[in-house]
Amino acid sequence: MAGDAVVSLSNSNVNIQSDPRRTKNVVIMGRKTWESIPLEHWPLRNRLNVILTRPRSFDIATAENVVICRSMAAALELLATSPYCLSIEKVFVIGSGQILKEGLDAPGRDAIHIA
Ligand SMILES: NC(=O)c1ccc[n+]([C@@H]2O[C@H](COP(=O)([O-])OP(=O)(O)OC[C@H]3O[C@@H](n4cnc5c(N)ncnc54)[C@H](OP(=O)(O)O)[C@@H]3O)[C@@H](O)[C@H]2O)c1
Repeated sequence: MAGDAVVSLSNSNVNIQSDPRRTKNVVIMGRKTWESIPLEHWPLRNRLNVILTRPRSFDIATAENVVICRSMAAALELLATSPYCLSIEKVFVIGSGQILKEGLDAPGRDAIHIA
């Protein structure tokens, strides 16, 4: 059931829109959710893909629009810094289980979308 929900976050640190033509959404997901996406759809297009994985357990070649973070807190901190904070429209936590729970508890949570 957790995989059917998405949490969106916004706060004054992350949701700065300097140029609406250049903004994009962010999807934050666990490493297993990333791996469950068919290769041909990596990364989810037109979005910054943030993958949470613990240190040294996973190695993804760096690619455009893909960022690896070690925790939800680290991800939100990174997104609050330049250049990310200048181009982010919305942050969506797409799962799965534990990641969604962290999204629910995160500062700036503003909506839960049940699909
Ligand atoms: N129905 C849907 O729309 C939907 C949506 C999303 C997902 N799903 C399904 O859900 C399944 C995966 O869900 P899941 O809950 O088993 O796995 P998951 O949350 O996607 O990934 C778990 C992995 O994320 C990393 N992780 C978890 N918590 C972390 C934290 N606090 N800090 C840093 N890294 C953390 C760890 O990676 P490491 O082991 O690399 O450290 C962990 O093994 C997939 O089969 C996917 O298809 C379905």
